[in-house]
Amino acid sequence: MGWLMSRMYDRCLEGAERAGLREWRRALLARARGEVLELGAGTGGNLALYPASVTRLVFSEPDRHMREVLRRKLAARPDVQVLDAPAEALPLPAQSFDTVVATLVLCSVKDPERVLSEIHRVLRPGGRFLFLEHIGAPAGTWTRRAQGALEPVWKRIAGNCHLTRQPGPLLEAAGFRVSPCTEERLPGSGTLTGRSIRGVAHLPLVEARPGSS
Ligand SMILES: C[S@@+](CC[C@H](N)C(=O)[O-])C[C@H]1O[C@@H](n2cnc3c(N)ncnc32)[C@H](O)[C@@H]1O
Repeated sequence: MGWLMSRMYDRCLEGAERAGLREWRRALLARARGEVLELGAGTGGNLALYPASVTRLVFSEPDRHMREVLRRKLAARPDVQVLDAPAEALPLPAQSFDTVVATLVLCSVKDPERVLSEIHRVLRPGGRFLFLEHIGAPAGTWTRRAQGALEPVWKRIAGNCHLTRQPGPLLEAAGFRVSPCTEERLPGSGTLTGRSIRGVAHLPLVEARPGSS
């Protein structure tokens, strides 16, 4: 994100937030508990929505312009830690969080598989990954073709945002059990970013060993 986008970000999302995105965020974050890590926290749109069951909050945000806006919002919250780190390489110990959160982030990261492996690493057994992401349209549709055609340009102007990503199947492949997962039209969004998934990906309490049934 450039300087201008970071300063315009909240205003760009205002319509979507009013149309229902804020309520989606609130309902999702109601499931956060214990020590929480939020990836790609952006301008801190989720900050006010965390429930009292959260005992520690760490935001990671690799973009310095977004971090500047975030830090300003956090002036009255010295308890919230901010890390300058990409989600692909978190400078955090293994099994150090109960909840990891990412909203509208997996579309923008460089390597979604690597990010999911990092989330898996930093979560404690039984931990939760709360996600809310826009996703690509089904293969073969006109919307999907348009997303594919526009993606190279879109990525450049929208902070590496990919229009065609499908993070759902990657969650299961990374060892999470996803439940619930809701697929719905993203409130207040246009055709290109219209589809979304949101839900909870659970890390098993005990890792299944290869060969065990
Ligand atoms: C569309 S914004 C979403 C911001 C915020 N999470 C929200 O819900 O409004 C995408 C965010 O992901 C961040 N981001 C991009 N690449 C990232 C990476 N590799 N690791 C973590 N965050 C990343 C961007 O800097 C930006 O703040």
